Amino acid sequence: MGMLDGKRLIITGAGSGIGRATSLLAAAEGASVLAVDLAESVEETAAAIRENGGTGLAVRADVSDEAAVSDFVGRAVTEFGGLDGLYANAGVGGGGKPMLELTVEDWQRTLGVNTIGVFLAVKHAIPAIRESGGGALLCTASVAGLRANAGGVDYSASKAGVISIVQTVAYQLYGEPIRINAICPGLIQTGMTRPVFERAEARGTMDRIGQINPTRRFGQPEEIGEMACFLLSDRASYVNGQAIAVDGGLSASHPWAYPRQS
Ligand SMILES: NC(=O)c1ccc[n+]([C@@H]2O[C@H](COP(=O)([O-])OP(=O)(O)OC[C@H]3O[C@@H](n4cnc5c(N)ncnc54)[C@H](O)[C@@H]3O)[C@@H](O)[C@H]2O)c1
Repeated sequence: MGMLDGKRLIITGAGSGIGRATSLLAAAEGASVLAVDLAESVEETAAAIRENGGTGLAVRADVSDEAAVSDFVGRAVTEFGGLDGLYANAGVGGGGKPMLELTVEDWQRTLGVNTIGVFLAVKHAIPAIRESGGGALLCTASVAGLRANAGGVDYSASKAGVISIVQTVAYQLYGEPIRINAICPGLIQTGMTRPVFERAEARGTMDRIGQINPTRRFGQPEEIGEMACFLLSDRASYVNGQAIAVDGGLSASHPWAYPRQS
């Protein structure tokens, strides 16, 4: 028996990184997955699910476009006969510009995908999940939404907004059998963080990446996917309204200088 047997899920940002890894793990745990992404690579995710014997469908859509979000929620209901869960994971890094270089357009793009995109997915999924008798909503926030120094001000604020959506919507669903949570990943090796790894490679500092958390390494997308599958499953039945860090312990500390190894 898989942890997600019979669950009908939508996962956004499924063309790469955390969304792809979660889609593959969820399907292996028995879920039917509607994989959504702007990028063509989402087709590969759905194909990989089917090659492994699972049920995976790809939809190319922009999560910041309300009509597109409404369409893909409707598509999941039509194809799967209902909806039990949604993982609003698609996001953009924001580019990490310093405060004084950020423009209104930069803010609008970052908030449009990371925050409004999450709001739209949650807004349109709730009626479909209600209709199916209940389920789970999950969002990707970030350690950047908890504290400073993990992204630009637009990115960090966009992720703090995701945490606020989760806390507020949990109460707006008061008494209903629908849970909502967020994962706050630390540094994970994905498409979004590729430049960080490329810069470290070029400087010869790869051995320093991830050293400021007590697990002393960066994470892999599957390590977020495992938590995502748990939170989307009935095993997490009493976890609601939470922003859960999966960061190797990074966010557990006060400012700290890691001891250099000789
Ligand atoms: N990688 C990290 O270290 C890290 C840390 C904290 C949070 N996150 C968050 O994790 C989530 C997943 O990112 P990732 O690290 O897997 O990066 P990624 O770039 O590998 O994957 C993100 C996916 O989202 C898709 N996407 C972007 N804008 C979209 C849009 N408007 N509509 C539909 N799809 C869109 C991209 O095409 C891409 O496939 C993001 O929300 C990101 O902010 C990542």
